[in-house]
Amino acid sequence: MMKGIILAGGSGTRLYPLTLVTSKQLLPVYNKPMIYYPLSTLMLARIKDILIISTPEDTPRIEQLLGDGSAFGLSLSYAVQEKPEGLAQAFIIGKDFIGDDSCAMVLGDNIFYGNGLGHKLMAARKTAEEGSACVFGYYVEDPERFGIMEFTRHDRDADDGAVKITRVEEKPANPKSNYAIAGLYFYPSGVSAKAEQVKPSVRGELEITTLNEMYLEEDRLQGQLLGRGFTWMDAGTFYSLRKATNFVCMIEQYQGMTISAPEEIAYRFGWIDEVKLKESALKYGKSPYGEHLMAVLEGKIVL
Ligand code: G1P
Repeated sequence: MMKGIILAGGSGTRLYPLTLVTSKQLLPVYNKPMIYYPLSTLMLARIKDILIISTPEDTPRIEQLLGDGSAFGLSLSYAVQEKPEGLAQAFIIGKDFIGDDSCAMVLGDNIFYGNGLGHKLMAARKTAEEGSACVFGYYVEDPERFGIMEFTRHDRDADDGAVKITRVEEKPANPKSNYAIAGLYFYPSGVSAKAEQVKPSVRGELEITTLNEMYLEEDRLQGQLLGRGFTWMDAGTFYSLRKATNFVCMIEQYQGMTISAPEEIAYRFGWIDEVKLKESALKYGKSPYGEHLMAVLEGKIVL
């Protein structure tokens, strides 16, 4: 069984004063808390056993919001990252939780959207279950802000977005590629032991890029492009948070329906029944979110 981690750590200093007394991942992205989006992403990969890692202050708040996961047909557990010492540390913190399983990790401020995303994620999951890591590349105009991948395309005609990664680099001053590595990673069994071998970078963090480099050296790192039709955003700065809000608002207005509703995904996958869905719909009350769940329940929205 594949496990999942949402890393919702960090002190959110880039969003001060918004994050002085609350978690970045609980801030609104349009009409729902930010963490609903990465949670939905893991669910689309059919991952039901999820560990949420956050700061000592924020972990109880997130737990208050999401609970044990039963409202979403999930098993949610929680762990604390004492200090922001890097993304790869999540696999050390989650060592017992992961055990011998493969594991995906999504960052708590990363938003993925696109028709067919579920299929893409299922393919990445398969890659991890077969022993290789899988990361996603997305075109950006400011690659120096991200971990980036250099790659060649092995089969352009296949058009499945698969690429051969030749190099990965964390926040390069002079990037040789405009493709950022998005904050969603699929790793095969054994990722915790590998993370334990990662040495801290100059900024004192266990970098996810170093972990990815280890898989690349073993020829066990697959790349997938998120091409046109997919949208990826992080929402960790004022500009990107606003961009994310605008995006979700626009999609929901044009399509006339709510996106990234974990209860809906759970219901469609048969992880919760009508009774449970109704309970949630009533809990959210007269908000558009509650009304959306009610419309799903009444069969008005079928896809
Ligand atoms: C982190 C990773 C980087 C990745 C990015 C995605 O950056 O280190 O490789 O591209 O997340 O959001 P950070 O959030 O630490 O700036």
